[in-house]
Amino acid sequence: MIRFSPGLGNAALGRNRLFLRGILRMTRYVKIGLGTSAAYCIENDGRCILVDAGNCHKEKRFFTALKKKGIDPGQIELIVITHVHYDHVGSLQAIQNICRCPVAVHKREAHLLQEGTVVLPPGITFLGRVVMALGKRALRRFPSFFSFQPVDPDIILSDGMTLEEFGIPGSIVHTPGHTEGSVTVILSSGEAFVGDLAINYLPFGLGPYFPPFAEDVNVLLKSWADLLDMGAKRIFPAHGESFPAEKLRSRGCRFKSRPIGF
Ligand SMILES: [Fe+2]
Repeated sequence: MIRFSPGLGNAALGRNRLFLRGILRMTRYVKIGLGTSAAYCIENDGRCILVDAGNCHKEKRFFTALKKKGIDPGQIELIVITHVHYDHVGSLQAIQNICRCPVAVHKREAHLLQEGTVVLPPGITFLGRVVMALGKRALRRFPSFFSFQPVDPDIILSDGMTLEEFGIPGSIVHTPGHTEGSVTVILSSGEAFVGDLAINYLPFGLGPYFPPFAEDVNVLLKSWADLLDMGAKRIFPAHGESFPAEKLRSRGCRFKSRPIGF
């Protein structure tokens, strides 16, 4: 097990971003729907990392999608878990068994992954409260839908970590709020893979960009500001389509002034 402590500060991350920008331009990403959430495979010069692992029993879909994109499972050198919710770690064990690569998770949620503990976050919007009330009933009736196999993480994150050694021009940064151990993969070119730090699943630009569930709204808004400060240009959520990072600024202000909505 590798521990990174303390991690990169924002200033160091900013320097890395400037240093890396422009010298590696071969990065691509592949979005793979795995149930109710999506995973992202990020490739640079033939080396890959995976961000999240979807719902349970989605490994076959994952490897089929990977093959269609011409990526071999052996190219994946790291799996980054943005946070330990059932729809992000459901197929983790099965995927890791094939890829045989390390798994990175934040220290505040490592125990949830090791124990296979299912946590349902509190709803913070009208939709979130309704869905969570239904979700708790569903958890009691259909526990297998929410379950996941425990996994021993190989890399325990405390703050941040560069991804250079895995061939990816970017970093993992701690972006709490949705959960206390949420992390984001941010590339030097500005793409930010945020897990559930923000969402975007309504059509026609209606948003919302604020997740319906979060453990701490103020901390979440601070993480949005931090991402913008780090140079995030486009947000790639696990639920919904990507969108310009600048929208975080306006949506954050709106939520502060009127904290009831979708
Ligand atoms: Fe989540």
